[in-house]
Amino acid sequence: MSFLTSTTHLHIKTWVIALVLFFIAALSSKKLTGVHMGLRAVYILLIITGGALFLEWRDKIAESGMNYDMKVLFGILIIGFMEMILVRKNKGKSVNVLWVLFAIALAITLYLGLSTGIGMNF
Ligand code: HEM
Repeated sequence: MSFLTSTTHLHIKTWVIALVLFFIAALSSKKLTGVHMGLRAVYILLIITGGALFLEWRDKIAESGMNYDMKVLFGILIIGFMEMILVRKNKGKSVNVLWVLFAIALAITLYLGLSTGIGMNF
């Protein structure tokens, strides 16, 4: 399965697509059920591509400490916040707090992803 783990490109494409679909659905004034269903399919790809990177690299880069574990935790939290924002928005409930949590989790995930181990490293 080296196409999943030899580079991080597939994982990056997957989360970029997820964020684009999420913003389209979240910022629209209408309820975009099709976009939301597409986003849910992309969650699965996101977990597969991220999970494959995790299994492949976690033990090989010992100095990363718990960074990879935290990266996965925050990646999954983002999926949770995107889902909660869309479901609550469609029900007409308040989503302000969730937007703040989403932004914090996104910032931490990007930082952990880009600062540790494999792939792009700033
Ligand atoms: C919207 C959600 C997510 C975003 C924005 C995101 C972002 C990133 C970024 C920026 C990288 C670094 C890529 C590179 O260095 O070339 C990365 C790598 C990684 N991601 Fe994600 N990710 C998300 C979801 C997930 C999920 C759900 C998992 C696990 C199931 C996961 C596991 C990983 C792993 C293991 C790596 C490699 C570790 C590393 O290079 O630091 N990610 N991700």
